[in-house]
Amino acid sequence: MLRFPEQGRTKEDVLATMRAARDHDIQWQQGKVFGLIYHIDEAVDALLQEAFTMFFAENGLNPTAFPSLRKFETEVVAMTASLLGGGSATSPGVVTGNMTSGGTESLLCAVKTARDWARVHRPEATQPEILLPRSAHPAFEKGAQYFGLKTVFVPVRDDLRADVGAMIRAVTPNTILMVGSAPAYPHGVVDPIRELAAAAQELGLLFHVDACVGGFMLPFVRKLGYPVPDFDFSVPGVTSMSADLHKYGYAAKGASVVLYRTPELRRYQMFVSTDWSGGIYPSPTLAGTRPAGPIAAAWAVLNYLGEDGYLEISEAVMKTVKHIQAGVNAIPGLKVLGDPEMSVFAIAADPSTGSGLDIYEVADELGERGWHLDRQHFPKSLHMTVNYAHVAVADEFLHDLAEAVRVVRRPSLRKTAGKFVIWLANVLTRILPERWVSAAMGKVSALLGGSGGGLPERMAPMYGLIGSLPNRGDLKELVLDLLDSMTRYSDSE
Ligand SMILES: Cc1ncc(COP(=O)(O)O)c(C=O)c1O
Repeated sequence: MLRFPEQGRTKEDVLATMRAARDHDIQWQQGKVFGLIYHIDEAVDALLQEAFTMFFAENGLNPTAFPSLRKFETEVVAMTASLLGGGSATSPGVVTGNMTSGGTESLLCAVKTARDWARVHRPEATQPEILLPRSAHPAFEKGAQYFGLKTVFVPVRDDLRADVGAMIRAVTPNTILMVGSAPAYPHGVVDPIRELAAAAQELGLLFHVDACVGGFMLPFVRKLGYPVPDFDFSVPGVTSMSADLHKYGYAAKGASVVLYRTPELRRYQMFVSTDWSGGIYPSPTLAGTRPAGPIAAAWAVLNYLGEDGYLEISEAVMKTVKHIQAGVNAIPGLKVLGDPEMSVFAIAADPSTGSGLDIYEVADELGERGWHLDRQHFPKSLHMTVNYAHVAVADEFLHDLAEAVRVVRRPSLRKTAGKFVIWLANVLTRILPERWVSAAMGKVSALLGGSGGGLPERMAPMYGLIGSLPNRGDLKELVLDLLDSMTRYSDSE
């Protein structure tokens, strides 16, 4: 068992251990990670680091003690609001908001706000529901679980966008909040925000636009002349929005903005304790102590790049996106799903241009070549988040992708063995008593190459297994087991 360190170590020793630990991480600096990292260059890194460390000790909890942070946060929020249609002709009200630690916290805030708003304005909704396209980010589901709301999911259309008619039909007397994404993360397509917001407004619902991934990209993509449907506060009926600075704002991690059309609505987000023995305690968002580094770094990067900087970066990114998408579609057996507006999209197998490929095996092969892409299901696909870090590596990626497809098409013993294990696991999960399934699944994961309870390196068989599990409850148990083991200290590390 690891014990609390009895004696301190030297700074050199501590840092050397940390550097060594880092050697096992994905080498994102070469631009081979799609998702997780948004990166411009060393000059921007230097600015972010300097701004971040200048404020590394300060605390955003108390703006009266740190007027600097108050200035940074209110300015970042105001700049973001102006980028997203706040103060436009159709949105004359004051768009207000807060900085949060990330997209998830922004969405949790929006869900909490909706719940408390509904208690006052929709008291007849005794079991409040949030209505979401199936592609909406899981943070809404997390928020609903945390705050005791029900989620109602509506399948997306064939073009992967929210189905307005089906959403309207799913409204019940308990619906308080409707959601659309700009764009949704899985396939990068923007939902029909104008139509959804109009319906929400007519039905007396709040309507949140999740622009966590698109908020600092779509406005620039539109200015560059690419077609982008209306998605922000200029659309009547949009009552709140989220936009992540630490994604396409290229800020340091731990920075997002949540916005509300009116200050009255934002009041439902806030918390105040008036009778604590420690004094009056106000808190606008979920966190108590709020790190100042991300707030300072976000203010720094918005001012450093400015609109012309973001336009230049977005232009390079969009050219790269179009190049990669054309390259993907030119590889027989692969295609880009749907018609994504910006730089987030998914690659799937296309049986119409080549015999059936297992796209997860393609991901494994890309993994062997140092590329990191997330695997998605419904439909099976690989996720691409192209940002400035990928401008220089697009051709290398396309080369390796074509090579990966060639390798996957060749028959191999490993694939046959993987298929056998999946078949066996499927048989076992059908005949074993329910409480044994999760334990058996852990064994299967080990059989497939998982070490220390983590996921195996080649994940295609694992995903094949997961996809064919008859019961999603088993899958949840398996993932909880994995999460538990991944977040627990192990002596073997
Ligand atoms: C559309 C969307 N919403 C919310 C989130 C959650 O953001 P975070 O990971 O910063 O909590 C993401 C993350 O990718 C996203 O793409």
